[in-house]
Order: sequence, then structure tokens, then C-alpha cells
Amino acid sequence: MSTPVFIFGAGPQGRVLLDIVRSDARRVAAGFLDDRPDRAGVAIAGLPVFHATEWLAGGPRPAAVVVAIGNNAMRMTVAARITAAGYALYTAIHSSATIAHDVEIGAGSVLCMQAAVGTGCRLGTNVVINTATTLDHDSIVEDGAYLSPGVHSAGHVHVGRQAFVGAGAILLPGVRIGDEAIVGAGSIVLEDVPARSLSYGTPARMHRIVDEDIDWARILGGRGR
Ligand SMILES: CC(C)(COP(=O)(O)OP(=O)(O)OC[C@H]1O[C@@H](n2cnc3c(N)ncnc32)[C@H](O)[C@@H]1OP(=O)(O)O)[C@@H](O)C(=O)NCCC(=O)NCCS
Repeated sequence: MSTPVFIFGAGPQGRVLLDIVRSDARRVAAGFLDDRPDRAGVAIAGLPVFHATEWLAGGPRPAAVVVAIGNNAMRMTVAARITAAGYALYTAIHSSATIAHDVEIGAGSVLCMQAAVGTGCRLGTNVVINTATTLDHDSIVEDGAYLSPGVHSAGHVHVGRQAFVGAGAILLPGVRIGDEAIVGAGSIVLEDVPARSLSYGTPARMHRIVDEDIDWARILGGRGR
């Protein structure tokens, strides 16, 4: 029997991950984990939700876990909790994703429906490549970075550790997105973006350096949330 997969995060991204795990004929999605006490004990799509701390201390073994959390820093922290508890990270690749023969993908990374990753690319650990996002040849995406839906990246692009790129952004050949930088939705990035900067627009301009804690609900959700 194949090792069951549990999804850490019982919110909307958890349901996205459920579809990805279910597209993998070799694996079975067995349940969700969540730190929020109000989420534990309910069922999502017929699968149980367990309280994460209790489950990590005494859950079934072997099992693999994938993190369904958009906040890059939190996703990395939770991934470290999972490995410290002795569980493997599941690398979630939707069956409709297209990946060149020589791509390297780190543990715990997520490739959503219709993602496409070209030859020579290297993805770190706990990276998210969202729905219909394309990453062309010889690009590097460092640990914990997040490319939102519909991002199109040309070749030789470098996305730094825990950087965030908003929906529909376009990254021109060879640009470097700094560590923990934030690129707004729909931006066209012509030039390198510094670490921890907030940039957006067409062409993308840097608006400020983010020196406070990042408000992830606002960054991910935009104004409509
Ligand atoms: C770039 C972003 C992070 C800015 O957040 P913010 O700092 O809270 O910015 P505000 O909403 O306060 O807007 C500040 C100004 O920037 C403009 N602006 C914000 N985002 C913009 C964008 N993506 N492109 C162009 N202009 C943008 C606003 O219109 C506003 O202009 P104004 O001052 O003339 O009214 C956010 O708008 C964004 O694009 N988030 C990405 C959402 C996303 O793709 N989620 C995917 C989840 S899977």
C-alpha cells in the first residue's frame, strides 16, 4: 500500500492540494491537519481534519505531508515542524502539469494544474507554482517562493527565497527577484527587483522596502478580501 498523504492547512488552498494529491494515481489523500482548533474534528470532502500538534506527535507512520499555506514564512516554518516530527514532505505535482526531463524539484513543493516548467529549471523546497503558471528554461526558484496563478516567466529568471509574485505577472528574461520581494499582480518586470521590496505596475517599479512584518492576508488577497 502506498504511503498516505496528509494536507497541512484545511482552508481553500487545502482543497486545491486535495485535487493535486487525488490526481496522483500512486497516492491516497488521507486527511487534513490544521492548527486552528475550530477546524479540527470536521470533514472536508469526506476526509477528517486533525489537530496538527496532536497529529504530529502521534499520527500514523509512515505518512507524508504537504503544506497548503500561502504565507511563505509560515509554510517554511510548518514544513520544518513536519520534518522535525519525522514525517516526509510530499511533493505535489498535478497530473496536468508539464515538466521538462531535467527539472529538479525540492521536497514539499507544489505544482498546480497546468503549470509548465522548462528544461534546466531548478525549484527549491516548499515552492508553489500555481495554476497555469509557466517558467521557461534555466530558471531558478529558491526555497519557499510563491508564483501565483498565470505568471509567465521567461528563461534564466531567478526568484529568490520566499519571494512572492502576484497573479498574471510577467518576468522578462534573466531578471532576478530578490529574497522575500513582493511583485504585484499583473506587473511586467523588466529589471531586477531588490530583496524585501514591494514592486508593481507595467513596467514594474519599486514602491518601497518592506521593513515591517508582511501582511500576508493583504498581499495574497489584494483589496477584495
Ligand atoms: C501589489 C500589492 C501587494 C499591493 O498591496 P498594497 O501595498 O496593500 O497596495 P494598496 O492596495 O494599498 O495600493 C496602493 C496603490 O498601488 C496600486 N496597486 C496595487 N496593486 C497594484 C498592482 N498589482 N498593479 C498596479 N497598481 C497596483 C493601487 O491602485 C494603489 O494606487 P493609488 O494609491 O493610486 O490608489 C497587491 O495589490 C497585489 O497585487 N497583490 C497580489 C494578489 C495576488 O496576485 N494574489 C494571488 C493569490 S493566489
